[in-house]
Amino acid sequence: MINYSVDKYYVIGNPIAHSLSPEIHNEFARQTGQLLTYERLLVPLDSFASTVKKLHHEGIKGINITLPFKQQAFQYSSQLSERAQVAGSVNTFIYHNKGWSGDNTDGEGLIHDLIHHLKWSLEKKSILIIGAGGAARGILKPLLDQKPQRLTIANRSVEKARLLAEDFLSYGKITTHQGSFAELEGQCFDLIINASSASLQNESLGLPRSLIHPDLFCYDLAYSSTNTSFLQWAQSGGCRNCADGLGMLLAQAAEAFFIWRKIKPDYATILTQLRLNFYRKKTLTNP
Ligand code: ATR
Repeated sequence: MINYSVDKYYVIGNPIAHSLSPEIHNEFARQTGQLLTYERLLVPLDSFASTVKKLHHEGIKGINITLPFKQQAFQYSSQLSERAQVAGSVNTFIYHNKGWSGDNTDGEGLIHDLIHHLKWSLEKKSILIIGAGGAARGILKPLLDQKPQRLTIANRSVEKARLLAEDFLSYGKITTHQGSFAELEGQCFDLIINASSASLQNESLGLPRSLIHPDLFCYDLAYSSTNTSFLQWAQSGGCRNCADGLGMLLAQAAEAFFIWRKIKPDYATILTQLRLNFYRKKTLTNP
């Protein structure tokens, strides 16, 4: 007998209407010939565990988790991948051995986008990360694995950057910038990654113009239909190598799709299409 049941997946968060994940995963499914559905689900702030339980009883195969539930998903996981453990948060669930197994594909998404898609090498490069929250935590180990010459964290609250760097001592050397962003004046980096949430509020970071030089690369983990405030700063200072986090969004989604379906979609082919078709007039975060 032929089984016509279709595997179901969700992205859950609050808010969730902005999420591009359904468009992305449904396009991946079309591209790879997989039969599945993938939808958004708005979860009340106090109902993460009960919703996930309900989804399991409905036979859901996998879930993507976005803000503000990534830490709760981490706590709720019955098993954790190494990268989820290191990141301290979970963005992908797969049901496995009578429990939700938690993974985090954000770091892999960033590295894939930087190295394979944008062709920016990180080896022996000097990297500055702005921000010391969950987004920064999720990318530190994957960046250290690329053997940069120097990795520096600068954060509005210096102490938070110091504590974050301390947590990663066993993975490689991280320097903490001991001052305001303005006091980065005179330093030189090959790549600046904005992992702060300043772009989401369209706030300027107040970084010194002197950081911008002809060979600088600037990457914002956030993305927007117009340039993020960080990328506006970079471009207005003459930076030619800029990218927002839309590629990372697609790459982390491709990795989640691979975890569930064991087939890797080619995300680069839909990047342009996504920019044209699905972009909202708002700044958005992953996924
Ligand atoms: P996420 O999980 O998205 O990283 P988070 O944990 O709230 O969110 O962290 C947000 C980060 O953005 C923090 O590093 C925050 O700096 P503080 O630790 O000093 O709060 C940073 N951030 C947010 N708004 C900012 C702004 N306007 N200027 C500079 N940094 C900002």
